[in-house]
Amino acid sequence: MGRVIAIANQKGGVGKTTTSINLSAALAEKGKKVLVIDTDPQGNTTSGFGLDKNELDNTIYELLIGESAIEDVINKDIVDGVDIIPSNVDLAAVEIELIDADNKEYILRNAISKVKDNYDFIVIDCPPSLSMLTVNAMTTANTVLVPIQCEYYALEGLSQLVHTVNLVKDRLNPELEMEGVVFTMFDSRTNLSLQVVENVKEHIQENVYKTIIPRNIRLAEAPSYGLPINLYEPKSAGAEAYRLLADEVIARKFD
Ligand SMILES: Nc1ncnc2c1ncn2[C@@H]1O[C@H](COP(=O)(O)OP(=O)(O)OP(=O)(O)O)[C@@H](O)[C@H]1O
Ligand SMILES: [Mg+2]
Repeated sequence: MGRVIAIANQKGGVGKTTTSINLSAALAEKGKKVLVIDTDPQGNTTSGFGLDKNELDNTIYELLIGESAIEDVINKDIVDGVDIIPSNVDLAAVEIELIDADNKEYILRNAISKVKDNYDFIVIDCPPSLSMLTVNAMTTANTVLVPIQCEYYALEGLSQLVHTVNLVKDRLNPELEMEGVVFTMFDSRTNLSLQVVENVKEHIQENVYKTIIPRNIRLAEAPSYGLPINLYEPKSAGAEAYRLLADEVIARKFD
């Protein structure tokens, strides 16, 4: 049985999408079969894998409203070992369209149940909100991985996020666990990054991944080439970091 990991933080710009793309690609490089699901109307994971998000007729939006079948929305082998369910701005309307739907917290979970066992890992990139889309990701997931940017307000919102995870666990998905937090955009030239890491570690009970993702210009450039970092610049510090994170994620076992 595979593991479904929701990459979530309602704070914007903390590295959710960068982690979704590059953790998925690193897991695939290590021989794992991975499905990435883009649940953000911004569609940055979709374009980051080189798909033209404005040219897609079969996205997660059509899947969630029941217009497309799961087989039709999965883009196979976008890179070796990685399949993707893409997203674009159409998804922005889904919350209102499904407002009266039955079991609307479980639409994604039900929609992917048929293909779940085909994968070692399913990685879900969440939007920067605690909306119905994020709740759907959390009811589908086994674990929640929280990227934390190494900057001054890093802890802001984290307790609210942990509270949401606990609510979903209590009411909707009893199996949900915290995968843990991963620090992103660490800048070794400043003391601030180090202080943030120390401070966050003191204040949270969650598992903290040993791997810290450095601030690396190659990671910021790769999406404009539509490639994950391991293909864009395989020897960069960013690529190496995501490989180490993938090793840790693989080694971590949940029952
Ligand atoms: N380790 C890194 N080094 C350098 N730049 C990075 C790194 N991680 C992310 N970035 C850049 O920071 C910006 C925000 O990253 P990203 O899009 O992954 O965050 P996000 O949490 O998905 O944002 P949103 O909340 O809008 O979905 C992007 O321009 C990305 O390229
Ligand atoms: Mg994002």
